[in-house]
Parts: sequence; C-alpha cells; structure tokens
Amino acid sequence: MRPVFYCLLALLLMACQGKQDLVKENFDFAAKQTKILLDEATPKIPLLPRTVKNDTLVCTDIYDWVSGFFPGSLWYLYEYGKDDFWKSEAEKWTALLEPVQYFYGHHDVGFMMQCSYGNGYRITQNPAYKDVLVNTAKSLCKRYNAKIGSIQSWDIKGWQAQRGWMFPVIIDNMMNLELLFNASELTGDTSFYNIAVSHADVTLNNHYRPDYSCYHVVDYDPATGLARNHHTAQGYAHESAWARGQAWGLYGFTVCYRETGYERFLKQAENIAAFIMNNPKIPTDLIPYWDYDAPNIPNEPRDASAAAITASALVQLAAISPDAKKADSYRAYANKILESLSSPAYRAEPGANHGFLLRHSVGSIPHGSEVDAPLNYADYYFLEALLKR
Ligand code: GLY
Repeated sequence: MRPVFYCLLALLLMACQGKQDLVKENFDFAAKQTKILLDEATPKIPLLPRTVKNDTLVCTDIYDWVSGFFPGSLWYLYEYGKDDFWKSEAEKWTALLEPVQYFYGHHDVGFMMQCSYGNGYRITQNPAYKDVLVNTAKSLCKRYNAKIGSIQSWDIKGWQAQRGWMFPVIIDNMMNLELLFNASELTGDTSFYNIAVSHADVTLNNHYRPDYSCYHVVDYDPATGLARNHHTAQGYAHESAWARGQAWGLYGFTVCYRETGYERFLKQAENIAAFIMNNPKIPTDLIPYWDYDAPNIPNEPRDASAAAITASALVQLAAISPDAKKADSYRAYANKILESLSSPAYRAEPGANHGFLLRHSVGSIPHGSEVDAPLNYADYYFLEALLKR
C-alpha cells in the first residue's frame, strides 16, 4: 500500500511541476517578446498593437474592438510576476482607452474595457478605474432594446448596411456581458445584471442549433422582437460553425453561469463544450480550423485565437463545474490546447513575430483580413488561460 501511495504522490507532484513549468516558461517568453513589441509600438501611441501584415506591425485606434487586449496582456504579465515595470506599462496603455467609456458606436466596449480597465481594477482596486467601468456599462446599455431583450451589436452602416439587417446581434456579444455583471456588482444597480441575463437568454433561444453549434449573426425585427435572419459574417456559410464564434459562446455562457448560478447557463456551456470537444473535424493537436465546416479541411487555415479562447473558457468552466468528471475532461482538453500553442508549431521563435506570442490565427476570411496572422487577442487569451489554469 505504502509504495503505491508514494508512487501516486510522486506522479501528482510531477504533474504539478509540469504545469508550473509550462506557465513559467510561457510567461518568461511572453515578458521577453512583449518588450520587443513595446519597443516597436510605443512610438505609435496613441495607436495600440494589433497584428502583423507584410512583416510590418499593424496598430489600431482606441475605438476598434481589439484595443483592450494589449493593455490586458500587460496586466496579466504584472499579475503573474508582480514586476512594477509591467504595472506601469499596463497603466500607461490602459489610460489611452479612457475616452471609450462614453462610446456606444458598437457593442464591443465590453471586450475593450473589461480586458483593460476591468483587469486593472481587479488587480489594483484603483477607484478611478471603477468609475470608467460603470460609465462604459451605461454606454453599452444604450444599445439594449427591451422589446427584443438584446444589445445590438453593429450599427447599420458600412458593409453591414449591405446585408439588409435591422438589428444584428452576433455571438461575440456574449463576451460583453461580463462588464455588465461587473458594473452591477460595483454599483448594486441590478439593471446591468438584468440586461445581461436577458441578452444571454435571448441568445440561448435564437443563436443555437440542436447540435449546440451557433449562428454568427441573428438579425431581429425591432417592431416584433422576433428573429428575421440567421446569417454569418465571418464564418464559411450561414449554416456553418465559425470556430471563434463557438469559443465566444462557450466563454460567454461560462461567465453567465459563474455570475448567476443559473443551471440553464451551465447546461448551455456544457453542451457547447461537448460540440467542440467531440467535433470530428478537430485535428489531433486540438487547434481548430477557422470554421468547423470549412470546405477544404484539412487544407484550411487553423485559428490559434479560437483555440486560446476555448482553452481559457474550459479552464474557467472546470473551476466552477459541479461535475468532477466533466471538470477533469475540460482541464485536460485545455491543457492539451495550451501545450500545442506552446509548441514551435504555433508559438513564435524567440525574438520573431514582432514580439507577438502566437502565430496562425484568422481574423476574417470572408473579409480577406488577418489570415494566418498573429493577433493580439490570441495572445491575451493564451496568457489568461495559462494564468487561470
Ligand atoms: N468580435 C470579432 C471577432 O471575433 O472577430
């Protein structure tokens, strides 16, 4: 009995050691890479780093949906090592987004401000950050329509105007709800919470197919509150399963369960996880193709960003799942993704990639943008998953 016990203990300790090594090795790597990115990006302030195109760093303005991810990665670097260098960089880059608190030109302010100011407040308790978060939540709620019970994702202008939509809601919008739950907790004002729950319920009822894959865009009629169209914008086809969209849904319903304790959100997250984890199109390294139904699999681009978001969502679902067996399977799946992303197949060579961590993500194939590229949000969710596992 005794030798068996010591053997098991040794195996457990080795597993924990391996886990720590993966996190430490990646954060050491991330610190070095991010210093390279800082050197190149700092002269471009007030723009923020986004991706690489034609071997040139591409930056973005503060009103773009990806503006919060780089400040968010800086907060994770600070949270991991508590090095004040990263705190002061995180504060500096976060402050650039301050005007966004009053912006309501699209739904993505939840992404932008929760990743930057939200992490900053969670880590430092800076009271000024709290006000910014609450103001942003108020701005986001201006896009809420009570008849539909949802927050409108995009305005009807630009390329969206050509699609004939009236009130488009995209699955990505589930990621903005964390800001509303946060604002409700910070203020005691339950209207933020109620809007988040309503949006999640309407999404659960209208975005999902019987196999728990989701549509990218559901367009509603503001007069009746009913769905008019089920479309895609960034996936292969209306009826296909765009990989990042599945990951946003998994993450969003996991947060909704964590914040509400409602069984229906847990079941939804579990069912989405099952769709992803049992999908026959998932390659053995668990990094999905950009769309589960892309026509030329296996000759289609992978999307490392979808994998990183999935890993982070699964780590968080494992931590709150009441079912120990399912929790173990979520953790194991997430760890395998993280090991793949940490391998030379996806992680950049030290000093390369203009300082971004990961390669091989897809922004939007239908729009011909950021295909097989580094993306700041792939790096952000990679660090988040490592930190939370
Ligand atoms: N929210 C846009 C995307 O996932 O590409």
